[in-house]
Amino acid sequence: MNHIVDCMEIENYVNSITVQAHENAEVTVHNNTALEMIGKGVHGAVFQVNEGVCVKVYGEEDVCSRELYALNLGQHTDLFPKVFCSGAKYIAMEMVYGIDLREYLQSQPLTKNLSVKLIHLLTTYKEIGLERIDHHKRHIFVQEDGNLKVLDVGTTVWRNRVYPYPRKLLNSLGNQYQEMFLEHVKELAPTLYDEWQKYIQMEKYATVLHEKYFSKENFKLKKLKKEEKILLTGKKEWDSKVEDLVRKVHKEQWIKALTARGVDIEHVKANAKELEREYIYGKDKKDKKGSSLSNKEDKKKTRIYTSSSKKKKQKK
Ligand SMILES: Nc1ncnc2c1ncn2[C@@H]1O[C@H](COP(=O)(O)OP(=O)(O)O)[C@@H](O)[C@H]1O
Ligand SMILES: [Mg+2]
Repeated sequence: MNHIVDCMEIENYVNSITVQAHENAEVTVHNNTALEMIGKGVHGAVFQVNEGVCVKVYGEEDVCSRELYALNLGQHTDLFPKVFCSGAKYIAMEMVYGIDLREYLQSQPLTKNLSVKLIHLLTTYKEIGLERIDHHKRHIFVQEDGNLKVLDVGTTVWRNRVYPYPRKLLNSLGNQYQEMFLEHVKELAPTLYDEWQKYIQMEKYATVLHEKYFSKENFKLKKLKKEEKILLTGKKEWDSKVEDLVRKVHKEQWIKALTARGVDIEHVKANAKELEREYIYGKDKKDKKGSSLSNKEDKKKTRIYTSSSKKKKQKK
């Protein structure tokens, strides 16, 4: 295979290619070279230089640095393409052949062997210090010899959203293969399987909790408007309601005042009208009964009515 790399030549090519990045869409490309574009994504466009070499041209410098950093972490493994040369916005790397896992699984079974290779891939990721030990199946390539290689590794470093289990890989496998892969892990690495299961369970709880606490307010405004009308007393009733309210407050207050002085509440209830009058106007001279507030005895000390004293009174 032609692995001859002329970095000067590649730099010249790159100078004749412009790649523009966009927020949420694939890059747009102007290619003034004879190189064939073999693929593009959100971050860059990839051109084949020769049988063994391609160059990925990026829209943004920091994305290029990030991928170069990640690729360099794994150069001693056989997982990543070899890097030949690089510039601010390009990386010349080894051509990766084979078919990606998404396509592969459409016609081939997920064997135990392949699952072991995936576990090995995750292990290598962790060992070389990638933060996200995870990959979408379309970036994993099955080689002719059955080994795996990965592309588009920039997203595995400098991340803040990292999951403690290979969430992306599992989700990308789809229900059927996910189950099969997990079955293999359960059999071959049971402790790891248990830990993943716990994380998956916790993630489900977290989702449910989130939905519970942050779900959209689901009341109906029209219905509430009707209810509001039912609860309003309205202008017509305003005067009478206010008058009533003042009366209630007054009653509550004078009863409170009397009971605070030690007057028995039952006595107050039984003689409410007289006591209220006395409370407002002072002692009523016409009142001959002993229920006044300020009879002769009361002048010396407040008379205490209790339920027992009331009974004694009744006996007399
Ligand atoms: N080293 C490589 N060898 C062969 N094909 C590649 C290589 N790198 C990228 N490609 C092709 O180019 C496509 C886009 O590259 P990718 O790294 O995914 O770009 P992006 O970061 O923009 O998503 C890939 O899906 C793949 O088909
Ligand atoms: Mg990509």
